Amino acid sequence: MVSSETKIVGLIGNPVEHSVSPDMHNAAFKELGLDYVYLAFKVEEKFVEEAIDGLKGLEMEGVNVTIPHKSAVMAHLDELDKTARQIGAVNTIKRIDHKLKGFNTDGKGALRALRENFESLKDKNVTLLGAGGAARAISFALAEAGANLKISNRTTSKAEKLIEEIGDKTGNKPALVHQEEEDLKKAVESCEILINSTSVGMAPEEDATLIEAEQMHSDLTVMDIVYNPLETKLLKEAEKAGAETINGLNMLVRQGATSFEIWTGEKAPVKVMEEATKRAMKGKI
Ligand code: ATR
Repeated sequence: MVSSETKIVGLIGNPVEHSVSPDMHNAAFKELGLDYVYLAFKVEEKFVEEAIDGLKGLEMEGVNVTIPHKSAVMAHLDELDKTARQIGAVNTIKRIDHKLKGFNTDGKGALRALRENFESLKDKNVTLLGAGGAARAISFALAEAGANLKISNRTTSKAEKLIEEIGDKTGNKPALVHQEEEDLKKAVESCEILINSTSVGMAPEEDATLIEAEQMHSDLTVMDIVYNPLETKLLKEAEKAGAETINGLNMLVRQGATSFEIWTGEKAPVKVMEEATKRAMKGKI
């Protein structure tokens, strides 16, 4: 029951109508009996500052931030944690008294999903596809965790720029792989983990994949950040090759779980969040 004591968290972005985050978080609050409600707020780009001020003024507990505001909100916060500062993007804001602090849980979400298959990511050989916003969060987290990272992007210059930045900021500089069939095959051969952090394979282009079964091997774990469809062409190819798979729902739920823990200080009920998200996706996408 929502009452005069209910604490408010939510999502700011544009659009937000198809977001499954309210379903994910409200299920978790219910499971733990926490008096919180999670709402979705559509915020136009010209009103980002007003939205952030409103969060402070109304003493909301915090928000998630999604496209297109992940960078724009930064100028209006009082403090940033190390990861958000490194990446230059915020996906979670927490109010601490009258100050707002920004975090980024996207990379942590990916690491949490991977750590369910690998005890440690230190010295693990990882090929990461992509150099956009999602790739940035994941690659910084992996570099910080001590992984041997190789990055490949359709636009090579973007990968080169990201590689330089990761090297400068973490001291663990990734290698560059050209996005050509033979180069990718060679890179994946020596890897334990392959991550797709591009939008390739997302509906309606469900038949697209950057890597096929012939370029994979059975000791590989393949993670896709695309969650629509849940089983992407890349993951189907991975199964053909006898590799382990981690779908995009895993990372989505675990970044949400990390935000939940930042706001509430309670351990997130990950399985409940996963089930609620899966149910919501069936209705929305
Ligand atoms: P996000 O914030 O979700 O990461 P983004 O910043 O637009 O989104 O990044 C999309 C990523 O998918 C980029 O790495 C993009 O490659 P480019 O940098 O060359 O644009 C990659 N991508 C999108 N469509 C692709 C395609 N058809 N083939 C290969 N890579 C693709």
